[in-house]
Amino acid sequence: MRTWGLKISYPDRRRHEVKKLLLEVNDITIHYYKVPAVRNISIAVEKGKIATLIGSNGAGKTTILRSISGLKHPTTGGIRFKGQRIEKLSAHKINALGIAMVPEGRRVFPQMTVLENLLTGAFLRKDKVSIQKDLEEVVFRHFPRLKERTKQSAGTLSGGEQQMLAMGRALMSAPELLLLDEPSLGLSPIMCGEIGKIIQDIHADGRTVVLVEQNARLALALAHQAYVIETGNITLSGPAEELRNSDEVKKAYLGG
Ligand SMILES: Nc1ncnc2c1ncn2[C@@H]1O[C@H](COP(=O)(O)OP(=O)(O)O)[C@@H](O)[C@H]1O
Ligand SMILES: [Mg+2]
Repeated sequence: MRTWGLKISYPDRRRHEVKKLLLEVNDITIHYYKVPAVRNISIAVEKGKIATLIGSNGAGKTTILRSISGLKHPTTGGIRFKGQRIEKLSAHKINALGIAMVPEGRRVFPQMTVLENLLTGAFLRKDKVSIQKDLEEVVFRHFPRLKERTKQSAGTLSGGEQQMLAMGRALMSAPELLLLDEPSLGLSPIMCGEIGKIIQDIHADGRTVVLVEQNARLALALAHQAYVIETGNITLSGPAEELRNSDEVKKAYLGG
């Protein structure tokens, strides 16, 4: 396994300060019942970067994201966000600390309007003025299409628009770290490109992103660092550019 020099000797926190690591996943193993879904996963994400996890269906990508967002606790290992241990915290607590996840399949509330869906993303926040400000200056700036559809019920949106809504909802919690699970899944090539562009824009605002994708081409084009996950293990990791040029990755994930 290539480690690209960011492996952290845990719980040494000095490295965190030097490298400005926003997220450190250290040697986690996660079980569903008694079956391990992912094993000995370590991921280091620098502040302000886009990291991607690529791999086929069932590899364990969603499970890793769920552990970072507090929806599934690891059996062993630790996760730090801004130096703080979070692997045992609840999803609400983790969201309040500044991590938001856009789940696989979008999971918008179909009967609710676009605006109502967006506001659910801010339910832990108290300051109405800053919520309104984020709605206008963050969400509607990145997704002008949602602004035109605030009163429309979410179920009537197209797949791409639902993806935008799910991303907008996550942004309404004002996250520093955004976890995106398969944002391009099921979208047309044009819409994939549009979502890719929006991910870059959201990143350009200063957010750190962990992007999970089966579309390795899109993911490696957007990301700075990348991890290949195969049957619950990291089999390859490194700068995204390096992985884009690796014969192994080309053959397995980029169609030769
Ligand atoms: N809720 C669950 N209960 C039991 N097994 C699960 C559950 N979710 C995922 N798994 C299993 O964990 C493994 C990893 O799944 P997942 O993280 O969803 O992969 P990916 O997101 O890469 O497609 C798979 O073998 C899957 O069947
Ligand atoms: Mg998944």
